[in-house]
Amino acid sequence: EKDPIKVCVTGAAGQIAYSLLYQVAKGQVFGDDQPIILTLLDIPPMMPVLQGVVMELDDCAFSLLREVIPTSDEAVAFKDIDAAMLVGAMPRREGMERKDLLAANVKIFKSQGKSLDANAKKTVKVVVVGNPANTNALICKKYAPSIPAENFSCLTRLDQNRAKAQIAGRVGVTIDSVKNVIIWGNHSSTQFPDVSHGTVSVKGTAVPVSEAVKDDNWIKNEFIKTVQQRGAAVIKARKLSSAMSAAKATGDHMRDWFKGTPQGEYTSMGIVSDGSYGIEAGLVYSFPVTIDKSGKYTIVQGLEVDTFAREKMDATANELKQEMTTALEVCSD
Ligand code: NAI
Repeated sequence: EKDPIKVCVTGAAGQIAYSLLYQVAKGQVFGDDQPIILTLLDIPPMMPVLQGVVMELDDCAFSLLREVIPTSDEAVAFKDIDAAMLVGAMPRREGMERKDLLAANVKIFKSQGKSLDANAKKTVKVVVVGNPANTNALICKKYAPSIPAENFSCLTRLDQNRAKAQIAGRVGVTIDSVKNVIIWGNHSSTQFPDVSHGTVSVKGTAVPVSEAVKDDNWIKNEFIKTVQQRGAAVIKARKLSSAMSAAKATGDHMRDWFKGTPQGEYTSMGIVSDGSYGIEAGLVYSFPVTIDKSGKYTIVQGLEVDTFAREKMDATANELKQEMTTALEVCSD
């Protein structure tokens, strides 16, 4: 039997974690032969609720689950971990400006960055889900200087899954027929869902998305808007934010990162920019990447960027620059 890996989920008493923990403990993320030790972090007032989640994890009788460690102490939650799914963040309250939310949340990620630096394995892979995800990841990385920058990421896989679903629905094909849809930039309404390099398999032959959809106007307008605003549409309908789909995407992100992307396919994740595609180095920006079997990702290079795409890629980068400036100000005091 393999040695267990130690995985931390934060915001463990919240709604995304409720779906995510099932997938992780069931073996759907790290493999169905990979024993798991789970550490669950939430804030002190949520400890009674978290106890209920632990009871349910027990009652699921997961074969792979070796130990569950619920805690409100970051040092305990991050001790010797191999993977961190940082879901916990403060939710936006009524009347709260985006800037106030950013200030509250980047402070959480400053603290968690420091604690990861002190406690986690240096090989830990970190995905930030809590919003503003890109900027939280940037701050987390900044305060964990002893862990390589490429070990920090943020989730844009949900946006990618949403984009794939829109294309599959429009063309009338199964979801797996759609490949290489890209999300560029920020996990926010400025993100750029880009299908210009994507393909759809129609009757066994891969054709460009544009050829399969046959409506450039729909792709450039309605499609992009639908994906950008999907989170708000779910909130409006469900009166709660996306949770099942966010958890599924977090599992997809981590599985690909640990196991590699399928041959001929890439996936999008928010990562520290190296300056590729003219995106300011150091920003946490969503790029298309391929991932090898050892868990190392490489940004897909050489994709053609036309004027339409350039404008959208720069707009979302500009928003991230502003978020970074605000976040660094907040963290310096
Ligand atoms: P939720 O409010 O149900 O759960 C969040 C949990 O985090 C709560 O239990 C809360 O007590 C906990 N928490 C707050 N501060 C914490 C801290 N310092 N340490 C540990 N835990 C802490 O929220 P939900 O629906 O699970 O969403 C979580 C986050 O994910 C939100 O920020 C949301 O905006 C974000 N999100 C991101 C998506 C993405 O695609 N990147 C998609 C959907 C949601």
